[in-house]
Amino acid sequence: MSALFQNYARRQINIVEGKGTIVYDDCGKRYVDFTSGIAVCTLGHAHPAIVQALQQQSEKLWHISNLFESAGQEKLATTLVQDLPLSYAFFCNSGAEANEAAIKLARKHTGKHHIIVFEQSFHGRTFGAMSATGQDKVRNGFGPLVEQFTTLPFNDVAALEAAIDETVAAIMLEPIQGEGGINVVTPEFAEAIQKICDKHNILLIVDEVQTGIGRTGTRFAFEQTALKPDIVSMAKGLGGGFPIGGILGTAQLFETFNAGTHGTTFGGNPLAVAVAQTVVEHVFNDAFLQQVQEKSAYLQEKLQLALNDEKFVIQGKGLMLGIYCGGDDVAGYVTQLEQAGLLVVQAGPKVIRLLPPLTVSEAEIDEAVAILKQTLKNEL
Ligand SMILES: Cc1ncc(COP(=O)(O)O)c(C=O)c1O
Repeated sequence: MSALFQNYARRQINIVEGKGTIVYDDCGKRYVDFTSGIAVCTLGHAHPAIVQALQQQSEKLWHISNLFESAGQEKLATTLVQDLPLSYAFFCNSGAEANEAAIKLARKHTGKHHIIVFEQSFHGRTFGAMSATGQDKVRNGFGPLVEQFTTLPFNDVAALEAAIDETVAAIMLEPIQGEGGINVVTPEFAEAIQKICDKHNILLIVDEVQTGIGRTGTRFAFEQTALKPDIVSMAKGLGGGFPIGGILGTAQLFETFNAGTHGTTFGGNPLAVAVAQTVVEHVFNDAFLQQVQEKSAYLQEKLQLALNDEKFVIQGKGLMLGIYCGGDDVAGYVTQLEQAGLLVVQAGPKVIRLLPPLTVSEAEIDEAVAILKQTLKNEL
């Protein structure tokens, strides 16, 4: 009998240890981890640099609250916005909280309430973030939701143009929908969004909770598109496994989040920012990002060769890839892969999502692809 609410459909293995891309369960069974804790463990498990950052900070100061100056937050904010058209940061603890901050900031800044979001999006489980999420399965049973979110089909320029009027405060999207099925924003849609935002003075919120911090081969995925966000939300990979979230915003938003408007007790806690600083310093580095792109190309090439069948379609960017399996429901594959020693996660019912640590090696990619081939094609 468990004393836990059964709100997760947990898999029946108990992972107790990890190093890099490899994790072990409590029976000593080894797995190649292509989940990274759902796009979190950017530098893999127990990377020595983040272990050291956490240990050193834990001996100095764990928590002091946002009543006081934070040199750690100042440094992390400066590192994050460097060379980006964004000027300020706010730190919280999770992706949903980051999106709450983004929604609040957009509403307060514009004095409007209407936000356009998209079908199959996922922005989190709190009330604002859930109301922004374009999936009934996430929202059902929790109404009434926060008002004035309009959900439109993703990548549909005509539907977007038709929905624009003077009530719209912001457009909010993920550059690659993760939970909803590895759906990449098309260049035409990104251009149309940006044009509309510029023309109608609408704020653009880009949710980079899953795609951010190097996951797609650039610091943020929006950099590969025409999108010029006013607000970027982030979490997951930022802390490499330590809980932290945040938003980045343009200079024009500075006055809107003035003292007393928004806050959180734990956000930007010294332990979290010490780890996040180490993660970001590793990732926001041209050579590191180049390697992510090379590993992505290698993984995609190996997958094409191994799966070599038009049934399988590889989607996504960087090390956020999906395998669409000809319309098959992939839950069974995920279990078989796990039994064969490869951990993956679904993106919606039809796509196998691959999210290895950004530090994954070519040998580990080869091992994962061999297991995928064996399982999906039933051959070695
Ligand atoms: C794009 C996106 N936004 C927001 C969230 C919510 O983040 P969290 O679970 O940290 O609240 C997620 C989580 O999967 C996500 O993928």
